[in-house]
Amino acid sequence: MSTTSNMQAYNLLTTEARANPYPIYANLRKDDPVHWSELLHVWILTRYDDVLAALRDPALSSDRLKQYAAHQLHGLDLNIVSDYLRVANRMMIIKDVPLHTRLRRMTSESFTKSALDVWRPIVQKVMDRLLDQIQGAERMDLVSDFAQPLPALVIAEMFGIAEEDRDSFQRWSDDISKFWGGSFGNIEEDGRRANEAMVRLEQHFLNIIHLRRENPGDDLMSHLIVNQERGLVDAEELTAQCVLILVAGHVTTIDQISNGLYALLTHPEEMQKLREQPEVINSAVEEILRFDSSVPFIHRVAKEDIVIRGRRIAKGQVVFLGLAAANRDPEQFAEPDRFDITRQPNKHVAFAVGPHLCLGAELARRELALGVAALCNRFPKLRFTNEPPERRYDSLMFRGFKSMPLAF
Ligand code: HEM
Repeated sequence: MSTTSNMQAYNLLTTEARANPYPIYANLRKDDPVHWSELLHVWILTRYDDVLAALRDPALSSDRLKQYAAHQLHGLDLNIVSDYLRVANRMMIIKDVPLHTRLRRMTSESFTKSALDVWRPIVQKVMDRLLDQIQGAERMDLVSDFAQPLPALVIAEMFGIAEEDRDSFQRWSDDISKFWGGSFGNIEEDGRRANEAMVRLEQHFLNIIHLRRENPGDDLMSHLIVNQERGLVDAEELTAQCVLILVAGHVTTIDQISNGLYALLTHPEEMQKLREQPEVINSAVEEILRFDSSVPFIHRVAKEDIVIRGRRIAKGQVVFLGLAAANRDPEQFAEPDRFDITRQPNKHVAFAVGPHLCLGAELARRELALGVAALCNRFPKLRFTNEPPERRYDSLMFRGFKSMPLAF
């Protein structure tokens, strides 16, 4: 294939591809699984085995912040995002071992299954409050009335963020995600907003840390402070991990709830199955994560020249790992384009694997399980309206909906 026709065939940026990228993933997986995108100037991996190996390959580094930001800004001055870089540079998500291990250890015990059991009533309470408000109306927008507020409210409860600050926390988190996700809008404007949001979030978390140090409680922040005081990390590293936890758990969960409901509503037989057999909810959540992953790509940078399937990836080049493409690989999943809430086995990579396996995976699974089950139970006639759902097209890294009007 010539370079131009190759660019067109595999162009993930067209409106059609953004609405449904799966046919392009399938072609890439079959014909060009280690693909150089002339358009994006990145390598794209789409096969399950390659993505899995890349996630565990120490030659593909997570320490990619400056390079990725420069890539995002297309030659604009990096100083636009200097504060963003200063804080983000301390986050575990962009560190390799051994620094990553130390930062992760500080937070991991707060996200284990047993630690999260403590938060279950809080998640339920937040959810019930949102659903009570919806039930009083005639219709809802699934995104703005439920998916959007839920994860932010849960994290706000866990961190003990004051009610009056919660809208600002959500907004700052959105601004940071937009830049991280590689927005298609005005990147200079997005960079400036992300930088400003980072400064504000850092300041607010510093205030909360100060208050909790004086007056410890039983919240997530108080636990993290104990670890910090044990000398695992310094105060600036603690603040950076708090920002990361807020941001990493926000857009991802909003989008996954919306993608999940969309999959169920467009597969009414599966929705019906879930209503008749509520005990399959956990397996339904795994299928929701596999079928339409809210994080279709993550990225790494080659620390040295490497060869994958005969293609040479040069030191310094950016590699996109196609998690969503891997999740539809027929070599790994029988009938991968079929949405089957009882699928077994289902070893999807929606949360990645390896050292950076999503820290909040268990929390996200619980929010999805409780949320999807509650929506199915409370609204037995849940359906689309004549106003169609609208996809969000502002990023290749995140996939979700802008709005989803539903009647019930
Ligand atoms: C459905 C929702 C979610 C999805 C699909 C998702 C997906 C991911 C993925 C793919 C990664 C790996 C990123 C990389 O290596 O570049 C990741 C990492 C991470 N996620 Fe999630 N995530 C979700 C929800 C959450 C939640 C709720 C939280 C926290 C409350 C969270 C916190 C994190 C953190 C802190 C990391 C970095 C871990 C590390 O670097 O060791 N995520 N997530």
